[in-house]
Amino acid sequence: MWSYVLLPFVLSLCKDITIMAKATDSPAAIFLPSQTGANDSRVFDSPISVCSAPDPNLNYKPVIGILSHPGDGASGRLNNATNASYIAASYVKLAEAGGARVIPLIYNEPEEFLFQKLDLVNGVIFTGGWAKQGLYYDIVKKIFNKALERNDAGEHFPVYAICLGFELLTMIISQNTDILEKVDAKNSASSLQFVENVSTEGTVFQRFPPELLKKLSTDCLVMQNHQFGISPDSFEGNIALSRFFKIVTTCTDDNSKAYVSTVQSKKYPVTGFQWHPEKNAFEWGLSRIPHSEDAIQVTQLAANHLVSEARKSLNRPSPKEVLSNLIYNYKPTYCGYEGRGYDEVYIFTQQRSLL
Ligand SMILES: *[C@@H]1O[C@H](CO)[C@@H](O)[C@H](O)[C@H]1NC(C)=O
Ligand SMILES: *[C@@H]1O[C@H](CO)[C@@H](O)[C@H](O)[C@H]1NC(C)=O
Ligand SMILES: *[C@@H]1O[C@H](CO)[C@@H](O)[C@H](O)[C@H]1NC(C)=O
Ligand SMILES: *[C@@H]1O[C@H](CO)[C@@H](O)[C@H](O)[C@H]1NC(C)=O
Repeated sequence: MWSYVLLPFVLSLCKDITIMAKATDSPAAIFLPSQTGANDSRVFDSPISVCSAPDPNLNYKPVIGILSHPGDGASGRLNNATNASYIAASYVKLAEAGGARVIPLIYNEPEEFLFQKLDLVNGVIFTGGWAKQGLYYDIVKKIFNKALERNDAGEHFPVYAICLGFELLTMIISQNTDILEKVDAKNSASSLQFVENVSTEGTVFQRFPPELLKKLSTDCLVMQNHQFGISPDSFEGNIALSRFFKIVTTCTDDNSKAYVSTVQSKKYPVTGFQWHPEKNAFEWGLSRIPHSEDAIQVTQLAANHLVSEARKSLNRPSPKEVLSNLIYNYKPTYCGYEGRGYDEVYIFTQQRSLL
């Protein structure tokens, strides 16, 4: 509506200026560079010069794969199909907020399809949830190993492992399915305690403004919703884990027990979160989710980091294959009425082999 109102106004403004210029017959007319004959560098260095060429080392159309999780995300209230799986829309929005599109990786699809879709993406998110064994565990492990292989082969391929996703990587890397401990952190917001002298270079916090970093350690800007975790001592005590990851932050649960909350791989663009970067801006169903401006910035900066890493992946599959597998081929279900769990979920029950 504004454009309809403003356009005539702007046009009439221009007309007035032209008339004025004519009326005063000002000699200080404005010429285009081509009219002045001035061909020197002053003209081309001016701030109104041409757009800079895109960086050929970056992929400006990154796509993030998100692995679906068993169930409907609503304990059967939305869909009871035994083979249903879901992705909470907040993870999709996280990737979109950073400037990427999403392809769902449906965990119980035939592996052949699943891995063809993995070839279409530039990074992966493992989401929260509860499934820690069976097919889901096996698929997370296979995708994770593929991600490491792609990095080893020279493709920068980021992984965000959030909540359950991080718990699973902890189990997979340590090769110990009993390594997690009970943690009391359901529906609570917390601060993040940075490990003393830890460098944030190369981590999700790399480009956080200093004031926000400070606030992260004093204010409750991140959402917790989990019953398992790993203490810093157990983490550092496991050779495989401490070789693979450095601990960046820890948190304390409702019983003052410390647990590892952010880890960054020492070699790979793999980040583990025992907190929920996606919830602050995009989920409303849990009472403690922080929604302050600072909290929203945390979501946005975490999104930016993921996608800036994904832009370094030069995997550029056929655009048509990407289009036919994008999440836009599916419709999310709104389920926020009851104010618990997720606001929107994508539910997958049909095989969809559009490749
Ligand atoms: C302006 O630059 C163009 C391209 O470099 C050149 O072809 C042309 O001769 C130049 N014109 C003048 C007036 O220097
Ligand atoms: C799923 O099953 C439960 C228990 O039988 C039932 O309460 C619920 O309405 C069912 N959900 C749907 C979407 O039909
Ligand atoms: C952290 O850095 C300070 C100042 O350089 C130093 O005194 C302190 O010992 C360091 N702490 C650790 C745990 O490395
Ligand atoms: C789930 O089951 C339905 C009905 O049996 C079937 O049509 C569909 O292909 C299955 N979906 C997946 C992802 O296996």
